[in-house]
Amino acid sequence: MTAHTGRAASAAEDATSEADINRVASNAIDEARLAPDLSTLDGVRAKYLGRGDGLLSRSKRGIGKISDPDARRQLGQTVNALVERVSDVIEERRVDLERSARAGQEEFETLDLTFPPPPLGRGHLSPVTLAAREITRIFAQLGYTPVSGPEVEYDRYNFTLVNQPPGHPARDAHDTFYIDDARLLRTHTSPVQIRSMIARGAPQRVIAPGKSFRRDYDATHLPMFHQVEGLCIDEGIAVSDLKGTLEYFARSMFGPERAIQLRPHHFPFTEPSLEVEVSCMGCGGGGCPLCKQSGWLEILGSGMVHPAVLRNGGVDPDRFTGFAFGMGVERVAMLAYGIQDMRLLYDNDVRFLRPVR
Ligand code: PHE
Repeated sequence: MTAHTGRAASAAEDATSEADINRVASNAIDEARLAPDLSTLDGVRAKYLGRGDGLLSRSKRGIGKISDPDARRQLGQTVNALVERVSDVIEERRVDLERSARAGQEEFETLDLTFPPPPLGRGHLSPVTLAAREITRIFAQLGYTPVSGPEVEYDRYNFTLVNQPPGHPARDAHDTFYIDDARLLRTHTSPVQIRSMIARGAPQRVIAPGKSFRRDYDATHLPMFHQVEGLCIDEGIAVSDLKGTLEYFARSMFGPERAIQLRPHHFPFTEPSLEVEVSCMGCGGGGCPLCKQSGWLEILGSGMVHPAVLRNGGVDPDRFTGFAFGMGVERVAMLAYGIQDMRLLYDNDVRFLRPVR
């Protein structure tokens, strides 16, 4: 320690004797080698080599003030060599720290391509798909050909040609998604009746599953849902044919012990119109919460095709008669598989898809 500053504290910092400089440098090297991370290492560099305040930088300046030229040169060379050495150690440590940081990251990111994958969960068909296929299959057994029509439909096919001319309340924008003046998302599958009559003429039997759209959303109504439309046209088709066909369907779909009943209703495209109810599968007809104590569940709308609709489809109503029906697939699926809330069908919860059939 020298006395040239006359202050002990600063003399300790401004080491200018060879022993002091060596001690400071050796502390610097120890601290650099032990620095646990890059920011500590930066602190070590600043503490010893910082331009203004670094302990070795200050020693260097102190040595510059020594008057004996030989002592000044010798100590100057010593301190320069030590500054270089400390600087090298700091850089070596920096390289080490950076390398081990990268190695840690690589270890974390390493893929073991031999690791066995988790078991694949098998997919299941949605209850809606299952029900639509089952309905279609049952009618195919009776000679109905599966057909389809567009989901984006002309107003004309969806409404006008099935006897719902402009001004009809069902055409309200409240219920219907319009695309423009002429086009909409079909509100039911009944336009397929017209398309099929035009395409196939009479006689014919077709079954048409597909999407329908209405501005509705609650536990029993969705804005997008599925219907299956059925159409049977031939000479001499009567209500008894409708009844026998739909009874066969109800028993195939909901169980052989089911009964149906027909109730008068109104649809613009059928005359007479009949609502088909099936005896409740919850209670067998005695009354329960599912059927709201009535013993019966409404499953579809139907009727004898209105002569005007036959004519719109190019079929001669004086020669041919027919019946048509339309049912909601979600509703049929809920009844057949015991599902409480229609929205569950579209929540995409795989746990829900698992138990069905
Ligand atoms: N299209 C009717 C509906 O969506 C169902 C229906 C189809 C009724 C065919 C009679 C005949 O409610």
